[in-house]
Amino acid sequence: MVMQAETTTTVADDVVPLAQPFLNGREIELVTEVLRSGRLSLGPMVTRFEDMFASFVGTKHAVAVSSGTTGLHVAAITAGWGEGDEVITSPFSFVSSANIARYTGATVTFADIDPQTLNLDPAAVEAAVTSKTRGIVPVDIFGWPVDMDALSKIAGTHDLTMVEDACEALGATYKGRNVGAAGVPAVFAFYANKQMTTGEGGMLVTDDDHLAAEWRSLINQGRADSGQWLAHDRLGYNYRLSDIASAVGVAQLEKLNRILTMRREVAFAYNRLLADIPGVNIPLADGDGNERSWFVYYVVLDEGIDRNDVMLKLTERGVQCKPYLPSIHLQPYFRELGFREGMFPVAESISARSLALPFFPQMSPQQQQRVADELRDVLAAG
Ligand SMILES: Cc1ncc(COP(=O)(O)O)c(C=O)c1O
Repeated sequence: MVMQAETTTTVADDVVPLAQPFLNGREIELVTEVLRSGRLSLGPMVTRFEDMFASFVGTKHAVAVSSGTTGLHVAAITAGWGEGDEVITSPFSFVSSANIARYTGATVTFADIDPQTLNLDPAAVEAAVTSKTRGIVPVDIFGWPVDMDALSKIAGTHDLTMVEDACEALGATYKGRNVGAAGVPAVFAFYANKQMTTGEGGMLVTDDDHLAAEWRSLINQGRADSGQWLAHDRLGYNYRLSDIASAVGVAQLEKLNRILTMRREVAFAYNRLLADIPGVNIPLADGDGNERSWFVYYVVLDEGIDRNDVMLKLTERGVQCKPYLPSIHLQPYFRELGFREGMFPVAESISARSLALPFFPQMSPQQQQRVADELRDVLAAG
């Protein structure tokens, strides 16, 4: 049974939605297979999903988890961070990139970003290293590959462990190599707005047998290698992904290359439609073996334009948009730790001027034209 792509939007017909998953009959078929099998957790569909994922990214192991955040938490534990340690990450990311260090008891330190890539600036990371620094969380923001070679060099010099937050970058390449296959533990996420989805879910990847075994125990209540249900070797968690969610994951992976191509085509069409609108800056173009995996389509407005006013007007005109991303260090619970405006000026400037536009693989040329026309109009009206 192959159905046409179904849209799952709950917005009015005349509204262009921000994001939509790309689903067809295959998800229903595989979920039904799981339900009929009666193996709803710790079953063969999880293993099938993990094996397919590992071969897509090009790592020896993939371990499925309940979300990107739980995967990052587990990776932060095995990175060895804890009380008294400092971990450096990007202020221009989703909060999980920073929260995971705090979950372990470590202190978060931020380093500013590069204004073009919007990823951690290696020189700023080097400057942020202190005698207490134990780790780095590089993030591939908006699907753009972070400069892992430069960061690995810093990590090597200062004996730091790294966890790559690749939650937004499935399918991206760094210097011709798949993101996630750099030899550093990496984590992907499958929330419904991601390149592929399982509703909620995530995946840890590594080539290290010992590390993968430790992750499998940690996400399964710290269970012992003996496999006995009530034997627990360590403090663990229930971060497992169900077979039902894994079935959705397998169906998504089967068409992932097609989804990624469709997303790229929509993004390139936006590039053409928006490039000449005064005040609008489009995303950095691929080059030097670096290829973005299109998670969101964002633009950065020129300084002096009231981004929030532009967003309000776009929303009134039926174009959904989002201020993407606010800087993490200015969230209330980080301000309580003493973080303030002015500490990471590049991230703050981008946060004040960037917005995500409607973006999904099945977006029609008419919908894209409408977004471009409305944005042009709103900006021209001042
Ligand atoms: C950069 C980044 N890190 C971590 C996460 C967390 O993933 P999840 O929402 O699956 O916990 C996300 C997802 O939004 C993300 O974009």
